[in-house]
Amino acid sequence: MTMILSGSKLGFAAAAAAVLGLGLALAAPASAEEAHGPVIEKQSWSFAGPFGRFDKGQLQRGYKVYKEVCSSCHSMKLAAFRTLADEGGPGFTADQAKALAATVKVPDGPNDAGDMFERPGRPSDRFPSPFPNEQAARSAMNGALPPDLSLMGKARAVHRGFPWFVFDAFLQYQENGPDYVYNLLTGYEDAPHGITCADGLQYNKAFLASTCIAMPPPLSDGQVTYDDGTPGTLQTYARDVSAFLMWAAEPKLEQRKQTGLKVMLFLVVFAGLLYFSKRKLWSTVPH
Ligand code: HEC
Repeated sequence: MTMILSGSKLGFAAAAAAVLGLGLALAAPASAEEAHGPVIEKQSWSFAGPFGRFDKGQLQRGYKVYKEVCSSCHSMKLAAFRTLADEGGPGFTADQAKALAATVKVPDGPNDAGDMFERPGRPSDRFPSPFPNEQAARSAMNGALPPDLSLMGKARAVHRGFPWFVFDAFLQYQENGPDYVYNLLTGYEDAPHGITCADGLQYNKAFLASTCIAMPPPLSDGQVTYDDGTPGTLQTYARDVSAFLMWAAEPKLEQRKQTGLKVMLFLVVFAGLLYFSKRKLWSTVPH
């Protein structure tokens, strides 16, 4: 009996050690990454959490930053100008979206003479690329390609590692995309001792792929003049354009969260109904 007991105790200890070992093994890469990897600080966003909504003023400012700064290198081929007037977005009117579209030149054609030509943009046009093709972009950028920003708000996320991703699921943390973009745009600094970046590359403490990035620091204080009086600082530009990119990547975020709330409410009411029906049905049955 004692033998069996101690045997099972041993088994328990072995199982506990295995679980602990597994936990440590899973946690190890995360801490190693933290030591050398990108530095990402969480930000607070109006669109976080189950009641999250975009701040329309912020999206409009973010569009301005994209238009005046980022669009000189980056396209957004999946975003059409008409969506700027969609519900749950920056809240431009249809006429404003039309006017914004008309500010870009779009290649079109061929015309009756067989020639390609440029015309002002229409609401159905997408945010165009400043370069005619990938080769032209690379040759202008020292061989690096500025990626399309349509889905960038959700395309990059820092690997959170065990156990954080489990908590994230419960705490509904879904903002690691805009957190990354914000940290990247504000993450330029002098390279620490012992790191040198090749010519044309900049040290950026948030860049995921490497230590040095081929994008020159795009934002600086006072570069864009906001129409609503918001102070134009590197931080506000970075925050606003990150929110704008999040909206572009998930234009139906508000609708999704509102539907989710309604579903949860329905489930609570439905669970109550089921409980009382069960009590009624079983009230006549001896048990
Ligand atoms: C002068 C051209 C230029 C401008 C202006 C510019 N970028 Fe970039 N961007 C690049 C290049 C080139 C890359 C690719 C960098 C690399 O792969 O090393 C890049 C990469 C990126 C990435 C991807 C980083 C990653 O993890 O792969 C993001 C996000 C980004 N840019 C956002 C922006 C935003 C937002 C703006 C406007 C505020 C902007 N960029 C303005 C040239 C530019």
